[in-house]
Amino acid sequence: VTGPPGPLVVRGGEVLDERGRRRADVLVVDGVVRDVGPDVGRAPGSATVLDAGGCVVAPGLVDLHTHLREPGNEEAETVETGGRAAALGGYTAVVAMPNTDPPIDSAAVAREVLALGRHAPVEVAVAGAITVGRAGERLAPMAELAALGIRLFTDDGTGVQDGSLMRRALDYAKGLGVVLAQHAEDRQLSAGGVMHEGAWSSRLGLPGVPAAAEEAMVARDVALVGLTGAPLHLLHLSTAGSVAIVRRAKAEGLPVTAEVAPHHLALTDASCAGYDPVFKVSPPLRTEADAAALRAALMDGTVDAIATDHAPHLPELKDVPFDEAPPGMLGLETALAVAVAVVGLERAFAAMSWLPARIAGMAPRHGGPVAVGAAANLCVLDPAARWTVDPAALASRSRNTPFGGWELTGRVRHTVLGGEAVVVDGEARR
Ligand code: DOR
Repeated sequence: VTGPPGPLVVRGGEVLDERGRRRADVLVVDGVVRDVGPDVGRAPGSATVLDAGGCVVAPGLVDLHTHLREPGNEEAETVETGGRAAALGGYTAVVAMPNTDPPIDSAAVAREVLALGRHAPVEVAVAGAITVGRAGERLAPMAELAALGIRLFTDDGTGVQDGSLMRRALDYAKGLGVVLAQHAEDRQLSAGGVMHEGAWSSRLGLPGVPAAAEEAMVARDVALVGLTGAPLHLLHLSTAGSVAIVRRAKAEGLPVTAEVAPHHLALTDASCAGYDPVFKVSPPLRTEADAAALRAALMDGTVDAIATDHAPHLPELKDVPFDEAPPGMLGLETALAVAVAVVGLERAFAAMSWLPARIAGMAPRHGGPVAVGAAANLCVLDPAARWTVDPAALASRSRNTPFGGWELTGRVRHTVLGGEAVVVDGEARR
């Protein structure tokens, strides 16, 4: 890092943020938006010019759910490679999940990941574990982690099974002013399952995970939010029943937020028909009716955010029989195009930028309106660019995208992080 980046102009695009859409150039000086307008004429001669013709210029995306695999599984991903994938996907901030090895259940490990993140081309926030070792038995030192600025806590990969422990965690989180994020899965109900329990699992002869495994914990946790008054974020919801529960909870005024993953919006359990483990994920791909309910819940605001659950796994681990493969799929480099295809530009940016930025406690530095004085964290998307997903060409260290070979419309042209162009013309600069 060599001091503040020089001035930069994003020229010829259409700004899209929470305030709406308008044709405007954006002048950035010292990492801050200095001018926004139909023609920022006063750009210094030395300014870098980013061509945004035909593009949407929006606040950078914020991913609430990224597995960066460091420490412990650097062969699958690192903060650096995952950070690069994020920048290429239009993200300026990601929340790194704590199911690393060792897990992020102590200040020492959190500090290590935060330090690695300072060199990444994206801001790396960290989620802390709710319980020690993510084992679900006793609370992690949440106060110590919160003191490092950690705002989200989750045992993701698994849910907190013990309701009374979850109640205590919620009480504690409320006192600390942090938010718990639940991977809603009743492990007794999901035990042995490798895909959604339904017509396809019967036909394929694979053991299923019933929708109720998720919905039972969502319902329990909503009840606990009512009991404690603590805010709760629900990770990667996958069923119609789950979003119905959240819709009711929000109508009652409970402080519940929810995210869905692009793969649950765009794919169904029918994808598992070829027994290809690239389609194995937790929670599993559900039915078309579930996917339709998730899309409707995004459109009516029941679901706040689209989060990737970017989960890199090494080819040698994934290329095994379906029931033996670890669950998880890549997401960072394809999420925006998939989301725009499913819910449209405006809803996609709301659900991937300003709404998750608030949940992560990163607004308005991320997700805030593109206005004079704002931090220059920007995503420049060419919504008409068509491209074919080539797993081998991804910046991620892993290859397990379920969208390999798909032709997508919409590609990130530039990403600006704190005034620095970290992606230019679709190429990572660092
Ligand atoms: O599919 C998944 N993979 N779901 C999770 O909750 C964890 C993730 C992982 O870490 O691989």
